[in-house]
Amino acid sequence: MAILRIARMGHPILMTPAEPVLDPTEPLITTLVSDMVETMIDAPGIGLAAPQVHAPLRVVVYRLPEGRVPADEARELTVLINPTITILDDATDLDTEGCLSLPGMRGEVPRAVHVRIQADTLGGGKLDYEAQGFHARVVQHECDHLDGILYPMRMESLKTFGYIEEANKVVLSTPRQE
Ligand code: NI
Repeated sequence: MAILRIARMGHPILMTPAEPVLDPTEPLITTLVSDMVETMIDAPGIGLAAPQVHAPLRVVVYRLPEGRVPADEARELTVLINPTITILDDATDLDTEGCLSLPGMRGEVPRAVHVRIQADTLGGGKLDYEAQGFHARVVQHECDHLDGILYPMRMESLKTFGYIEEANKVVLSTPRQE
């Protein structure tokens, strides 16, 4: 197990489409996944894609902590290998995202609300499930990394893009209307 270095926006690996994993049961992939999980927890982050740790492979890990999602949707850890996403309908919503490759920043990104996710598992099996809302957003964000896409590239307006610290100052200094 090891904590890996996270590439930040500007590093070419984040702009490069990742390669499919030919054999998900290979020990090398198991090691990569456990290092990614350790790196995600240490960061701390909600999700991490392999290109973010300089591995050009189609591997994603994520978790849905209680508090961010309804209790029955909370997930300790999900590992997706060679994931594909199918958008199930036209519904989209706009919400704030951050990314470990753009530390300290955030922006509002439109995403599909309902998606179907299919992927290989580490054990050589298959996953096939539907996700909505925040869960669907996390998976779309992470899978975008596998195609060399970072969330600012999905933003409709860069007006909401900026440093979290500065945005918080604005909120704190706005006189409360009561
Ligand atoms: Ni990200």
